[in-house]
Amino acid sequence: MNRLDGKVAIISGGARGIGGETARRMAEHGAKVIVGDVLEAEGAETVKAIRDAGGDASFVLLDVTKAAAWENAVAVAVKNYGGVDILLNNAGAYITKPILETTQEDFAKLVAVNLEGVFLGTKICAPEMIRRAQSAPVGSAIVNISSVAGMVGSRNSPVYSMTKGGVRLFTKSTALEFAKRRVRCNSVHPGLIDTPMGNLAMQRPGSSRSNTDMRELFANSHPIGRIGAPRDIASAVVFLSSDDAAFITGTEFIVDGGVTAQ
Ligand SMILES: NC(=O)c1ccc[n+]([C@@H]2O[C@H](COP(=O)([O-])OP(=O)(O)OC[C@H]3O[C@@H](n4cnc5c(N)ncnc54)[C@H](O)[C@@H]3O)[C@@H](O)[C@H]2O)c1
Repeated sequence: MNRLDGKVAIISGGARGIGGETARRMAEHGAKVIVGDVLEAEGAETVKAIRDAGGDASFVLLDVTKAAAWENAVAVAVKNYGGVDILLNNAGAYITKPILETTQEDFAKLVAVNLEGVFLGTKICAPEMIRRAQSAPVGSAIVNISSVAGMVGSRNSPVYSMTKGGVRLFTKSTALEFAKRRVRCNSVHPGLIDTPMGNLAMQRPGSSRSNTDMRELFANSHPIGRIGAPRDIASAVVFLSSDDAAFITGTEFIVDGGVTAQ
């Protein structure tokens, strides 16, 4: 089930967190992985871990806001592994600021990484993915990491929420544009996940509560009784990228321990 044998994946923000774990999981499932990130040292560590475990991966320096960097990532995937079957648009930026305190610079940064990065990745990887899809049994798959903050409004990070809502609908448009060309596209909506970004989201500057107290508070706010692990999201991404998800496109896959079910 959910095997990715013979498939080639490009993962943005693949150095650490959700992207790093998904890179390792995809490699375990037989994919060859291009780990793209602005963090070179962490990216190299992720690639080494995959190779040490017997998998195949390469690092590319990828700033998702730069078209030339995406073109290079595709060129490396084609040169090293023969093409691209899976694109995971995972790189993301986050801030906790109310609307009245958010500057235009904050806004531009979030839009550049979370929206322009997803647009550029899709536009630049799609031609190669469409080409490969024509000779693949099922086709190619794009997975976009949105958030539960892309489903409902956010008190703490309104502009982040705005960008993730954009990713949610861009996913559906992408699915419609590419459906007949054998490229599926779905969004994944994580709840609070234990990564550097998740830890940032748990902080409440000025609060007298300790970090341990905050973690417990957040864990208890999840019906399932804990916050998420990167592996929880990686499992969903592996499934949506695999041929087992052949009839799934344009959908929203919520992985949040029941938070939005309330
Ligand atoms: N952690 C959570 O609680 C949570 C919840 C919902 C959604 N998400 C989303 O999941 C995705 C992964 O987040 P994470 O929690 O693993 O965060 P993280 O901060 O641990 O990892 C994000 C990765 O993206 C990379 N990145 C940032 N800007 C980049 C750029 N311009 N070009 C290339 N790479 C860049 C970072 O270097 C890092 O490796 C993000 O899209 C985030 O918005 C996270």
